[in-house]
Amino acid sequence: MLTEHEIYTVFHLAAQTLVGPAAASPAATFETNVRGTWIVLEGCRETGVERVVVASSDKAYGAHEELPYREDFPLRPTAPYEASKAAADLLARSYWPSYGLPVAVTRFANIYGGGDTNFSRLIPEAVSAALDGRAPVLRSDGSPQRDFLYVEDAAAAYLAIADGLDREDVRGEAFNAGGGRPHPVGEVVAMIARLAGTDVEPAILGAGNPAGEIDRQYVDPAKIRDVLGWEPNVDLEEGLRRTIEWYREHPEARAPTAVA
Ligand SMILES: NC(=O)c1ccc[n+]([C@@H]2O[C@H](COP(=O)([O-])OP(=O)(O)OC[C@H]3O[C@@H](n4cnc5c(N)ncnc54)[C@H](O)[C@@H]3O)[C@@H](O)[C@H]2O)c1
Repeated sequence: MLTEHEIYTVFHLAAQTLVGPAAASPAATFETNVRGTWIVLEGCRETGVERVVVASSDKAYGAHEELPYREDFPLRPTAPYEASKAAADLLARSYWPSYGLPVAVTRFANIYGGGDTNFSRLIPEAVSAALDGRAPVLRSDGSPQRDFLYVEDAAAAYLAIADGLDREDVRGEAFNAGGGRPHPVGEVVAMIARLAGTDVEPAILGAGNPAGEIDRQYVDPAKIRDVLGWEPNVDLEEGLRRTIEWYREHPEARAPTAVA
């Protein structure tokens, strides 16, 4: 084990994070999300990093009839982004039993908050649109349901998991975190419009669910609550209020035009 480094905790979040580009460019997505993960894991193993938290995703579960997702559900990815996250999840967790690397993975719901410039995502696009007085773009008909987690709650969950890695019952484990219940995306866009004070109707591009995406998803957060004491502090309305405020103060970070 090398001793001359001063890195004790690694949070591995770097990834190609978008579902559409993953479907268009699977090889590049696997290169970043899967190979990128084992490169980080190998670096951590070789240098004796003491805690590693790797971002998997609720998308790694794939579609299940039974909801909410629990950590003991099988990973059943069917699309490239889902498969890349499931692969990273399995690789990462194998480093605890195989090499004694204290590692855990996160399977978090849709994270939102200020500072997100991925405008193919619902909330940055809808907030930008609401503040700029244009119609937000909905890639579905508004009916798909998603679980939303405010970014500060997500950060607190990452820290709770990293702290917990000193314990045997956290090492090699996966942890869900989410807001606790699903919301139809149309309801989220309507809430954004109300909180931002606009009455522009969304541009509905899809019928039902976008191709290749799962219709209804939410996670059971009982394990992270029971094992680590983490619970979300910010509900959707308050999180959206804070998110709108951030984009109001940062007009340069808003979506330049509608994103198809
Ligand atoms: N945002 C969500 O809702 C959500 C939910 C569950 C899991 N995740 C996971 O959480 C992590 C962070 O997501 P995010 O929303 O902050 O995404 P993001 O796209 O904002 O950030 C990803 C970062 O990875 C970097 N990156 C991409 N390819 C890279 C490469 N080849 N080498 C080095 N860096 C590279 C990007 O520059 C970017 O800074 C990802 O692993 C994602 O899969 C995100």
